[in-house]
Amino acid sequence: MADAYSTLLIERHADGYAVVTLNRPEALNALNTTLTGELGDFLESVADDDGVRCIVLTGSVKAFAAGADIKEMADQAYADMYRGNFFARAHDRVASFRKPIIAAVSGYALGGGCELAMLCDFIIASETAKFGQPEINLGVAPGIGGSQRLTRAVGKAKAMDMCLTGRMMDAAEAERSGLVSRVVASDALLDEARAAAAKIAGQSILAVMANKELVNAAFETTLTQGVVFERRLFHSLFAFEDQKEGMAAFVEKRKPAFTGR
Ligand code: HXC
Repeated sequence: MADAYSTLLIERHADGYAVVTLNRPEALNALNTTLTGELGDFLESVADDDGVRCIVLTGSVKAFAAGADIKEMADQAYADMYRGNFFARAHDRVASFRKPIIAAVSGYALGGGCELAMLCDFIIASETAKFGQPEINLGVAPGIGGSQRLTRAVGKAKAMDMCLTGRMMDAAEAERSGLVSRVVASDALLDEARAAAAKIAGQSILAVMANKELVNAAFETTLTQGVVFERRLFHSLFAFEDQKEGMAAFVEKRKPAFTGR
């Protein structure tokens, strides 16, 4: 069945991943209620779909997303924001998704767009990518985790600089600072992200989910607790057939055939 969304384009690939393209070109993919709702709905719809074991989230050449939709936000009152729990549902759906999401960023990733990219598991950027938290220019502050995730990604000095001045970081600075994992030529961005997604989708889904959970745990625990959690999860992976298959395939010099069991 085709996925029908008004602000997203969905392409499912036989290798076991999906490419989700934010599609509000008239507003540089600004995140409005419809778009964030549809993104949350799509993630929910594939949470238990074995045919989608990794997601690539991307935008247009000009903009991954230029932030939350300012025109939609402008007249909101505190009561509206509080009762609607502005963007919390979308944030939580992306943050709690158990399979990897790769952000493939070209052009602007600003405000909520930068926050959405940082909510993904890693960011592959094109040479044209520009990251920023320019909310201060609008008299506000980041609201979907940007002040926290940017600081953890690039450290206080750069996060404070970007949040207080609203300046943008180009792709080279973003890679130097640890915000993005790779920078590639603009016309290679999607191929690079697709190849990474196909590679992940070909692994044991159990090991993929465990690795994601472990790296994310590093942000929430002490080193000692994190290492204990890793040890326990590592031990538990020996309960799965995929561990037997992966190691047998290495010994027998063949490709593993993981089943997710
Ligand atoms: C609504 C937006 C938008 C946004 C761009 N557009 N960004 N609409 N919300 N965030 C619209 C413009 O109004 C314009 O529509 C069209 O997209 C093209 O944008 P231009 O400004 O004409 O393009 P350009 O001159 O190339 O400038 C690109 C830009 C600029 C530098 C990215 O658009 C810009 O500064 N955008 C705002 C970035 C920003 O402040 N983001 C943070 C938002 S606050 P029309 O109809 O006029 O042609 C936020 C808070 C998150 O994200 C927390 C939420 C809880």
